[in-house]
Amino acid sequence: MSHTCRIELDGTPHEFPVVEGSEKELSIDISTLRDRTGYITLDDGYSNTGSCKSAVTYIDGDKGILRYRGIPIEQLAEHSTFVETAWLVIWGRLPTEQEMERFSRRLTMNQMMHESLRSHFAGFPPNAPPMAILSAMINAMSCYEPQMMDIEDDNTMEKAAARIISKVRTIAAASYKMSIGQPLMYPHPEYKYCENFLHMMFSIPYREYWPTPEVSRALNLFLILHADHEQNCSTSTVRMVASSQANMFASCAAGVCALWGPLHGGANVAVIEMLEFIKQSGMKVSEYIERVKQKDTKLKLMGFGHRVYKNFDPRAKILKDAADKMLARLNISDPLLDIAQQMEEVALNDDYFIERKLYPNVDFYSGITLRAMGIPLNMFTVMFAIGRMPGWIANWKELHDDPKSRIYRPRQVYTGHTLRDYVPVEQR
Ligand code: CMC
Repeated sequence: MSHTCRIELDGTPHEFPVVEGSEKELSIDISTLRDRTGYITLDDGYSNTGSCKSAVTYIDGDKGILRYRGIPIEQLAEHSTFVETAWLVIWGRLPTEQEMERFSRRLTMNQMMHESLRSHFAGFPPNAPPMAILSAMINAMSCYEPQMMDIEDDNTMEKAAARIISKVRTIAAASYKMSIGQPLMYPHPEYKYCENFLHMMFSIPYREYWPTPEVSRALNLFLILHADHEQNCSTSTVRMVASSQANMFASCAAGVCALWGPLHGGANVAVIEMLEFIKQSGMKVSEYIERVKQKDTKLKLMGFGHRVYKNFDPRAKILKDAADKMLARLNISDPLLDIAQQMEEVALNDDYFIERKLYPNVDFYSGITLRAMGIPLNMFTVMFAIGRMPGWIANWKELHDDPKSRIYRPRQVYTGHTLRDYVPVEQR
């Protein structure tokens, strides 16, 4: 196999190296293209652009493969916890017992917010979107962590990672408590990561909430499945911000903003709104799908389609099974699950979706799982953000540790006016 690529421009051939990834993925290194030829590449939406080399997550979209640091998502979903998976994603290997113990201790030590940070919540209106609060508060955390602004060794790196991963759940739960007018609950030092989050969400003074093992397990699973997903919109945003050498808090806060949109993490809210609409309007699933196909409505089947997965999304498969089992064990019957299952069946047999390779993605069944846990709809995307934090941190670290990293600075093809003169206001 040739390890160069020949491109002919204006009759002159140019050779570029072919870079091969560890799973034999091939790419053409065009980093010298502009210097040598004056041309740049144009790839709106980056479908064909490898923005970096990364060793964190591997996806094969045709085969429905997702691996964190080489380990299949199915194995992690079955055997791991979110905290262990987070360490794996950030550090590149499974932790030893001592490393796990140290990281868990650091998570516990960092679970509280600075008391002054708690008072920031009073500045938000009661109906403020929790994603806005989350992003603002992660950024505000940097004001309280001057010693974390320059991360120069692994020890500080682990402390900083523990701080964000631990405090993000405290902030998330506090934003929910504010929105419903209940007192903010302090984290409990004896509780594990997921139980502690659920405690801060659902306990009230003098009435302790304790989740069932099914609910804790489902939350662990949900967070594991969201822990990383290579160069998606929010992770690329984190890397973009990090490339200017911005600190980890600022970079992750930017990731939260990117995740918010309905085409990305916000899809988990949009899916439930779509299913609720169908239920309440009494519309048939097939009728809704016909409306989606008409296109003039700009309506999409939310929770369907993916830029990379063109066969199935392995996360959706795991979550669907988990949602089924959890609902059965908790004896909950959710009419939205029935509508979702009907919708999947109709869409998967419809030429429109078959031709475009549109399958349910992770967000299609995640909302059903979150509802069964009692998580309110406006917190769904926040849950995704808590889960994605290890992936953002791992990508931040990868870039930070790379001595060759440069500021991200794409080019553009300018399509605006050519040179024209300024016109004084009275002559316009
Ligand atoms: N419903 C109906 N048609 C769709 C959908 C959908 N959900 N997704 C894609 N299409 C159509 C699209 O209109 C286009 O049709 P045509 O070729 O006739 O113009 C074709 O399929 C290709 O779509 P695309 O927009 O070029 O695909 P993309 O890779 O740019 O977008 C996507 C990927 C996930 C943004 C898109 O599929 C979508 O908007 N899905 C719904 C939102 C969603 O569920 N997002 C969560 C993604 S997974 C978790 C995450 O990343 O956060």
